[in-house]
Amino acid sequence: MASGQLLRQLIRSGAEGNLEAFKKASEEVIREEREKHHYLLASDLEKILYGRTSVSSQPLVSLVKSVPSDKERGLPLLHIREPLRRMEDLVLSDDNRSLLEEVLQEHHRQEVLKTHGLAPADRLLFCGPPGCGKTLTAEVLASELGLPLAIVRIDSVVSSYLGETAANLRQVLDFVASVPMVALFDEFDALAKERADAADHGELKRVVNAFLQLLDAYHGRSLLVAATNHETILDAAVWRRFDEILLFEPPNLEQLKKLLACKLRGLRREFDVESNDVIKLFKGMSHADVERVLRRSAKEMVLSGQEFLNERHLQSAIRREDARRHRMQRG
Ligand SMILES: Nc1ncnc2c1ncn2[C@@H]1O[C@H](COP(=O)(O)OP(=O)(O)O)[C@@H](O)[C@H]1O
Ligand SMILES: [Mg+2]
Repeated sequence: MASGQLLRQLIRSGAEGNLEAFKKASEEVIREEREKHHYLLASDLEKILYGRTSVSSQPLVSLVKSVPSDKERGLPLLHIREPLRRMEDLVLSDDNRSLLEEVLQEHHRQEVLKTHGLAPADRLLFCGPPGCGKTLTAEVLASELGLPLAIVRIDSVVSSYLGETAANLRQVLDFVASVPMVALFDEFDALAKERADAADHGELKRVVNAFLQLLDAYHGRSLLVAATNHETILDAAVWRRFDEILLFEPPNLEQLKKLLACKLRGLRREFDVESNDVIKLFKGMSHADVERVLRRSAKEMVLSGQEFLNERHLQSAIRREDARRHRMQRG
């Protein structure tokens, strides 16, 4: 809880209608709470203080209408959507959580940074295997900042016409520079599919480098997020261009417990999500795998007319998931 002196300042400034002093005292409270690692409270207070919808003024519909498209084929280059999921829907490592909190804070308080000639982090790189939350984290960033989420459609951006891919990329960057949003370049290394010899790493690097040059030149209002499953192809020249790098990994035991609690919220069950026997069942799975198993087991519970989820439902869903994976590997 904030100190007595700070509370006095806060209430006095509020009662006197001194907005400037009120804001300053509130910011001090938020800083104190964050220092005490009360991250959820701090970010809630921040939202109350700065508001969530103040940043984006353009309605989503008109934004969607102004999305640029590929000249030759007329395909839209971005997909705009309203982000729905929030911080509490996301399970992260401690490192990633604090990086994310920092980025959010820099954006919430960008005016203060600006007065000191500083800009918030606006180029992020997300690396890691599929299903560990790269796309979801971009969505959560957008919802926490009250901004639309724009997913760049790499398959539309990539054109077989010479020079068209670069022109498309430029269109995308111009568009996201003009209106604040969170722009996700998902699997941006897939840009290299431009040529038949994409398997060649030299080619991959060339296209990725072209993209990075555009990123370098970017000075816009949106937060740019590039995501990749292939961080090994990215060299040092790539890494240093991003303000922050988040590494995503399958959940460890602690994160698995949180993930189960989060995904089973509101579902009646016979087991404890903290139980090691239950947790062990999910070892080695990605977050998305875990979610699929839970969805399968919930369906099984409902269809068999039961009201409580139990370990047998989980085990049978895992067996069926394994069978599915084997079929996919053979196919
Ligand atoms: N870290 C996570 N916390 C909570 N749910 C997750 C997490 N990672 C993945 N999921 C679930 O799996 C789905 C797919 O994950 P996604 O974010 O698309 O993974 P990626 O982009 O890394 O391949 C998400 O929509 C979410 O429901
Ligand atoms: Mg993804």
